[in-house]
Amino acid sequence: MSGMPRRLAIDVDTGTDDALALLYALGHPDLEVLGISCVTGNVTVDQVVINSCNVLDAAGAGDIPIAAGAVQPLLERARREGGSHGPDGLGGIELPQTSRQRSPVHAVELLHRLIMDSPEPVTLVTLAPKTNLAMLLTRYPEVAASVDQMIFMGGSASEGNTTTVAEFNVWQDPEAARCVIESSIPTTMYPFELFSRLAVSQGVADRFRAHDHPAIRLAGDLLHRRRTSTHGPSHDQVGLLGDAGAMVLLTNPELFVIRELPVHVNLDGIGRGQTVVDHQSRQRRTAVALDLDAAQAASAFVKVIDGYAA
Ligand code: RIB
Ligand code: CA
Repeated sequence: MSGMPRRLAIDVDTGTDDALALLYALGHPDLEVLGISCVTGNVTVDQVVINSCNVLDAAGAGDIPIAAGAVQPLLERARREGGSHGPDGLGGIELPQTSRQRSPVHAVELLHRLIMDSPEPVTLVTLAPKTNLAMLLTRYPEVAASVDQMIFMGGSASEGNTTTVAEFNVWQDPEAARCVIESSIPTTMYPFELFSRLAVSQGVADRFRAHDHPAIRLAGDLLHRRRTSTHGPSHDQVGLLGDAGAMVLLTNPELFVIRELPVHVNLDGIGRGQTVVDHQSRQRRTAVALDLDAAQAASAFVKVIDGYAA
């Protein structure tokens, strides 16, 4: 990357994988986190704010603004109960009470101000249901011209994790997802398929958990709660990076196979919340990450987390 750090705003529903993504962004020398916007998703927006503050504390971050955003999706009020992050969203990891205060303004206002006040274009990374960003683009359409890139974690080109065909971030608010993915902002989609592909070994997670730096220890505890067995003969235990993979896509796009493909968001019927990645159409709309060098991407993540000890 060029000398100047990339300035970014991150939209989260901090669960365990958003937390890993935040630790990576806060620890990466080429990234400058301008602010964090929170939305109901894995847990309620109020809990998302607390969890995000806890991650900033562990990372020893400066006074980065965090704002609460949408409590509910644009239209439907239903929210998936439960999910793999536990009732508090961070898998019950014991963390010190934060003294950080949330921004007094709504997340949409914070994002608007951060983007329009920035002397350089801002990159948006969205790791959650897209309600805040849809509201931002609808209320302040001018921001699109000041956003140089968006990394959109959500959707899938095949199976879903919330319904057979729908991934959670899109399923939770399909109207918002369509609004965002059809905006004029150059967007790269990080689909759910890559979630099962990008992980670090349990040995690395255990090494992190034993470290005395709070950020490294938190990364280990989060990975430990995101452990799963590999499908191979060894059935090794690994920790899935989830959303953190979308942040590695931002810093190391060379480690991914990306193709420009039309992406349609289904709003109706049994397929509501499905993203259809259309390999047949000639329309060019969204860059979609279709494959990755999982070992190199995992190493990039581990290197940044180890960097907290430097
Ligand atoms: O479907 C996975 C996505 O939904 C991740 O971003 C996870 O944190 C939840 O937001
Ligand atoms: Ca998330």
